[in-house]
Amino acid sequence: MSYGAPTPTDRPEKSRRSKVRIPHLLAAKGVRKLTALTCYDASFARLLEKTDVDIVLVGDSLGHVVQGRSSTIPVTVDEICYHTRSVARALVTPHLVADMPFGTAGFGDERCYAAAAALMQAGAEAVKIEGSSPAVLRHIEHLVQQGIPVMGHIGLTPQSVHAQGGYRIQGRSQEAITDLVASAQALERVGCYCVVLELCTDEAGKKVSEQLKIPTIGIGSGSACDGQILVLHDMLGMDASFCPKFLKHFESLEDRVLAATASYIAEVRGGTFPQEASSHDR
Ligand code: KIV
Repeated sequence: MSYGAPTPTDRPEKSRRSKVRIPHLLAAKGVRKLTALTCYDASFARLLEKTDVDIVLVGDSLGHVVQGRSSTIPVTVDEICYHTRSVARALVTPHLVADMPFGTAGFGDERCYAAAAALMQAGAEAVKIEGSSPAVLRHIEHLVQQGIPVMGHIGLTPQSVHAQGGYRIQGRSQEAITDLVASAQALERVGCYCVVLELCTDEAGKKVSEQLKIPTIGIGSGSACDGQILVLHDMLGMDASFCPKFLKHFESLEDRVLAATASYIAEVRGGTFPQEASSHDR
């Protein structure tokens, strides 16, 4: 399947608010770095719409940051659909991707196709699938043939956290890097338009990126990847205590939310909020 070349009218040079489509992502390889963030609700989607971010992912990381779970495994298709619908209501410009949760791709044809169709009907423009086993590759190929674009995801794949022996860095040996390159090439061959590389060594990130025609999007996989993705809540510092080595808090929302809430409580208790000026009786 070919995604074609970006048409000049699709994305005028000077207007950054034109719709981001897959051909733009493919054309960015080697030209500019791609940016991606996760998002799970309409409030944050409204804000991301005002930015220049290229890709928004409704990730199953919602299991951690929205649901407070310790793994992504319990997240369901219905839950991702719910959050995708919420994001899609407020997001127009960035390319919108939804995660295929645990128990879908690679777990039988019907489950895979039903999940992908539900996510697309919820508003996704592509689905992201973890892994590169023969069953997963077969499913990806079929989805692409049916017109459903697929983003791959290798390296640390949190849905396989137990099989991978925990949240461990991938690509530490030459053999492991060779395997990652082979997996990424297999994903490209079956039609993925881009591949997420999670928690890989910098060397693995670089080698995989060099060997692919499609862009790589790294998370904790070094600066040689063609783009970067972070979980929105992590990037904003919603949990000050969560800062693994690869993460940067671009804001300290935990401190700011606590400070704002403390001010609100103090003003209500001290009688300075609400103010007379806000009364309906004036
Ligand atoms: O679920 C998610 O948010 C992800 C990204 C971290 C790549 O898979």
